[in-house]
Amino acid sequence: MKQLIDRLEQEQTLPREDWIRLLEDFTPEDTAYLCERARHVRQMHYQNRIFIRGLIEFTNYCKNDCFYCGIRRSNCNTHRYRLSKATILDCCRRGYELGFRTFVLQGGEDGHFTDAVLTDIVHAIRTEFPDCAITLSIGERSRDSYQQLFDAGANRFLLRHETFDSTHYASLHPAGLTAASRQKCLWNLKEIGYQVGSGFMVGSPGQTTENLADDLLFLKKLNPQMVGIGPFIPHHDTPFAKEQAGSLELTLFLLGAIRLMLPKVLLPATTALGTIAPDGREQGVLAGANVVMPNLSPKDVRGDYLLYDNKICTGDEAAESVANLKRSMQAIGYDVVVDRGDSLNM
Ligand code: 5AD
Repeated sequence: MKQLIDRLEQEQTLPREDWIRLLEDFTPEDTAYLCERARHVRQMHYQNRIFIRGLIEFTNYCKNDCFYCGIRRSNCNTHRYRLSKATILDCCRRGYELGFRTFVLQGGEDGHFTDAVLTDIVHAIRTEFPDCAITLSIGERSRDSYQQLFDAGANRFLLRHETFDSTHYASLHPAGLTAASRQKCLWNLKEIGYQVGSGFMVGSPGQTTENLADDLLFLKKLNPQMVGIGPFIPHHDTPFAKEQAGSLELTLFLLGAIRLMLPKVLLPATTALGTIAPDGREQGVLAGANVVMPNLSPKDVRGDYLLYDNKICTGDEAAESVANLKRSMQAIGYDVVVDRGDSLNM
């Protein structure tokens, strides 16, 4: 496997059948070697700097009914909330003081947030924080809507492709949501000029090694500025309640592989990774990740934005989360920096 890993580092891609072989047969020794190479590559481009993003979960209303997601429409046990413009701006102010220079507005697909409502909020953040990046993570919208939000001052957009394969996609989502329309959104976002983040869940129900190979080949082609991957974790109020969670080992291996495939990409150590293992995010950084996204949402709504069970940091104040993060990153030799953290993968 070492030869395949070396080849991946040199050529920054692998043929589909080699991806499949690598992902099926890797050993713990292979992971150790891959992660060492991934750290080397990350060090070349980003040194030991860890970028932070302030996540503001501004609505948990969602019109969609994705089988894996805790805030799906059919989940009647979720207490629904929306943050006001004033509250969102307060979160940004608190975040700015804590050293954040990127704000991520994430939410379900909530009809309340029309283009008019959202562009007004984005414009207000843009005006008050001219030196900050504004990232949206609000699902599928029309090209025109994406354009209006971009014109209002949004710079970045996170939209995981979830799974490239259309049959697998259909097994995770209700009828009407398609892999093709998801991917079309991503191409539209790129065309408009957003810095784009995509990605997928590791170990989602029915996921095969072939699916993962296709996910990696799609990411190579899309060439996004960020790739977000994390383990699938079941949520008790979804159709996938009884399914198995994705594995730490495979997630770490994929992080290292993505670092070698897209050397300059931004790679978050996700909250889901920190949820399946107490030191998951640290291990993610040691596998090549260089971004962490602490929560800036008001404490009283944290417990309502639960995409999966046992999510970490739902009881922390933002300041606590950041202080803990700085400490845990320093302990493994990394520095959390005050920076917009723009991607070098342009
Ligand atoms: N486990 C892990 N990740 C999940 N997401 C949604 N539900 C879950 C879950 N049960 C991820 C999706 C989505 C992102 C915001 O969170 O990939 O794109």
